[in-house]
Amino acid sequence: MLAIRNIGELALVPAGPVAGRSMRDLSVLPDAAILIEDGSIAWYGEESAFIAPAGCDEIDAEGGAVVPGLIDCHTHTVFAGTRENEFVQRIEGRSYAQIAESGGGIRVTVEAVREAGVGELVELARPRLDRMLANGVTTVEIKSGYGLSVDDELKMLEAIQRLSKLTPIELVPTYLAAHTTPREFAGRPDEYLETVFADGVLSRISRLGLAEFCDVFCEKTAFDIRQCRHVLAKAKDYGLQPKLHADQITQMGASRLAAEVGAISADHLEMIDDPGIEALKEAGTIAVLLPGCSFFLGVRQAPARRIIEADVPVALATDYNPGSSMIESLPLVMTIACTQMRMTPSEALIATTANAAAAVGRQDRIGAIEVGMQADLVILDVPRHERWCYEPGRNCVRTVISRGAVVYPTSADGACTEIEP
Ligand code: NIG
Ligand code: FE
Repeated sequence: MLAIRNIGELALVPAGPVAGRSMRDLSVLPDAAILIEDGSIAWYGEESAFIAPAGCDEIDAEGGAVVPGLIDCHTHTVFAGTRENEFVQRIEGRSYAQIAESGGGIRVTVEAVREAGVGELVELARPRLDRMLANGVTTVEIKSGYGLSVDDELKMLEAIQRLSKLTPIELVPTYLAAHTTPREFAGRPDEYLETVFADGVLSRISRLGLAEFCDVFCEKTAFDIRQCRHVLAKAKDYGLQPKLHADQITQMGASRLAAEVGAISADHLEMIDDPGIEALKEAGTIAVLLPGCSFFLGVRQAPARRIIEADVPVALATDYNPGSSMIESLPLVMTIACTQMRMTPSEALIATTANAAAAVGRQDRIGAIEVGMQADLVILDVPRHERWCYEPGRNCVRTVISRGAVVYPTSADGACTEIEP
C-alpha cells in the first residue's frame, strides 16, 4: 500500500470521454491525500480524514498538486534521422505540402528508418520515452508509418513491442502503413496499399498483437477518401480499430469519413468544417488536436473552441515526429493549447488524461482520479494544476507513479525515490 499525503490540490478528473462545459468545470480537492492498493486508487479524500493503514508507505507531496498520469495519444516516437533542413526551408517560405511534393518530408525519414535495424530504432526511441516519463507521461501511443514496406512496417511495430518491455510507460501500437506512397510505388498508390494491407500481413499483426489501431493519412499528398475507407474497413476486419489523420492541410471530408467508419479518433482537424464537427459528435469520435504541430509548422490551429462548444470530446497530443512536430513535451503542448487555441488549463488537463484515454480505448482503466482506476499519478512541485501550463519553460514534475509504483525519479535518474520505510 502507498499513500500520497499533503497534496496541495487533487485534480478530480472523471473517467472520459468528457465533453462541452464539463471539460472546463474540473473539480479539485484541496489539502488531500490518496491511498493506492494493488496498483489502483483505493481511496482519496481530505488529508485531515486520512487514517494510515498499518505498514503503508507514504510520499509527502509537500503541497504539490496531483493529477492523473498524462496520456500522449498520437505520436510517431519511433523514427531515425532528423529533418532540420526542412525546418529552415519552411522559415524561408516553403510549405509542409510543397516540401512533401518535391520528395522531402515523410519519405526522407522512411529512408533513414529502412537503413536502421530494429535494435537501433529501439535505442533511438528509448531516451525519448525516458524524457516523456520525466514530463509526467505514463501512456504513449506510437505509430509505424516510416517503413512503408511490409518488412519495414513490421520492423517498426516490433521496435514498439520491444520498447514496451523496456519502459514503465504503457505503449499503444498503431499501424500507419497508409502514411504515404513510398518512392518505389510512385503513381501506383493502390498497388502499394494492396501489399501492406494484404490478408497475410494484417492477420500476422493481429495474431502477434503488434497493433491495436490502424491509422491513415487522408490528404492530397497521401491517400484519398476511397483508399482510406477501403484500408480502414479491411484492417477493422482484423480487429484494428480505425483512426485518421484528418483535415490537416486540405478539407476533403476526412472527418466525415472518420464518423462513417466509426473511428475511435480523428486527429489534426486544422481544416475541419461544421459538417465534419457535427459528424464527429454524432459518431462519438474523439477529436485529437495537435497544437504543437501547427506551432512547429507556423500554420493555423484547429478550431478547438468551436469543437468543444459543439460537445465533441477533445484530446490533445504531441504528434511527436521529426517533420511536423519535433516536440516530445506534452506539458508544453498543453500550454500551446491554452495560449494559441484558448483552451483553459482544466480543458487541457482533461484533454491529455480522460479524453486521451478514450482516444486509445482505455477510459475504463486510466486517465481519471476515481476509486478503482489504475494509479497512474503525477505529483507536481506547484500547488495548483494551472501553474503547470503557466510554467512551460521548466519541468514541474516531482514524482511519477505508474500502476501504483514510483517510476520517476528512480535511482537511475541520480535521485532517490521519496518512499519512506
Ligand atoms: O501527423 N501528417 C502526417 N504525419 C505526421 C507528419 C509526419 C512527418 O512529417 O514525418 C503528422 O503531422
Ligand atoms: Fe501524426
